[in-house]
Amino acid sequence: MILDHDLYKLTDKLASERDLTDEEFLRILFCDDPEFISYLSAKAREKKEEYYGKKVYIRGLIEFTNHCKNNCHYCGIRRDNKNALRYRLSEEEILSCCDTGYGLGFRTFVLQGGEDGYYTDDRMVDIVSAIRKKYPDCAITLSIGEREKESYQKLFDAGADRYLLRHETADKEHYGSLHPIDMSFDHRMQCLKDLREIGFQVGCGMMIGSPGQTMEHIIKDLRFIQKFRPEMVGMGPFIPHHDTMYANEKAGSVELTLRLLSVIRLMFPAVLLPATTALGTLDPMGREKGLMAGANVLMPNLSPVNVRDKYTLYDDKICTGEEAAECIRCLKMRVSKTGYEIVQDRGDPAG
Ligand code: SAM
Ligand code: FES
Repeated sequence: MILDHDLYKLTDKLASERDLTDEEFLRILFCDDPEFISYLSAKAREKKEEYYGKKVYIRGLIEFTNHCKNNCHYCGIRRDNKNALRYRLSEEEILSCCDTGYGLGFRTFVLQGGEDGYYTDDRMVDIVSAIRKKYPDCAITLSIGEREKESYQKLFDAGADRYLLRHETADKEHYGSLHPIDMSFDHRMQCLKDLREIGFQVGCGMMIGSPGQTMEHIIKDLRFIQKFRPEMVGMGPFIPHHDTMYANEKAGSVELTLRLLSVIRLMFPAVLLPATTALGTLDPMGREKGLMAGANVLMPNLSPVNVRDKYTLYDDKICTGEEAAECIRCLKMRVSKTGYEIVQDRGDPAG
């Protein structure tokens, strides 16, 4: 049995060596002693500030379609949810979101959506090229799910820089339990490899507390991330959606998510790590706590207000009523209270 004070030594070891044994990771992740947590998060902040100082990067999230051909068991916009009110944004509407965002200081736009066949390669290339042309100083991030390598290559050639594709879980069996039979763990992993080979800055990640997830699965996630070395890690708590088979499941733990943010920061000091909207949904101070645990990115919504409440991946999502200008004003105030500062920057990985 390792004594509590050894946890402090383990944290120092993680900070200097960026790695621990599985058992040592488990010790840290299971410990909810407040004094220890405050030590762990202080170490993570120290590491973050070595690379990013007090800067917090913002990404303007444009949720441009909630149509999806997939049926992920956990997701509120899955194909078979007949109660979801579906929408798509036109190229003009997407560009208008970018205009608003640019004026508010955003220098990264994230186009996220379900896997919607309407957005063929040609349509996506047109949209990405138009944004690239109009905003040469901005980063373009796509988060539109699994496609074939040639398709990713076309999007990259059109000017997209980054791609977010959470691996969801690094355990194949667990993946199988969260997704219908027609979705493939191997294909998702192949997509991540393809994106990396093409030259995208890539983000993977997982939900914390997804149904059936064990601590051993989380260790597998850490080992996968270690091998894959993404530029970004998107990690937020699972939250049930009332129209899914997981309606009555428990939401993920905010505290475990925060400990994991700190662990990820210590393992990968230069990683771009968002404090997610899901974290802010489960805890009114969740995003601030995320920044204090080692996160350095926020992704406020730039989607038009009239579609915001239709992109409901989970219940009670925050910030669905405010205009983008109001959201960023509120976030700037919240962030300044943590001692950090939202900056106007593309926010590429440090070092
Ligand atoms: N279709 C794209 C994809 O598959 O990557 C992007 C959209 S998808 C809705 C974005 C992410 O939302 C997923 O990777 C998943 O981790 C997260 N998500 C979906 N349902 C969720 C839920 N109930 N709670 C928390 N996060 C959820
Ligand atoms: Fe496709 Fe959620 S099932 S975005």
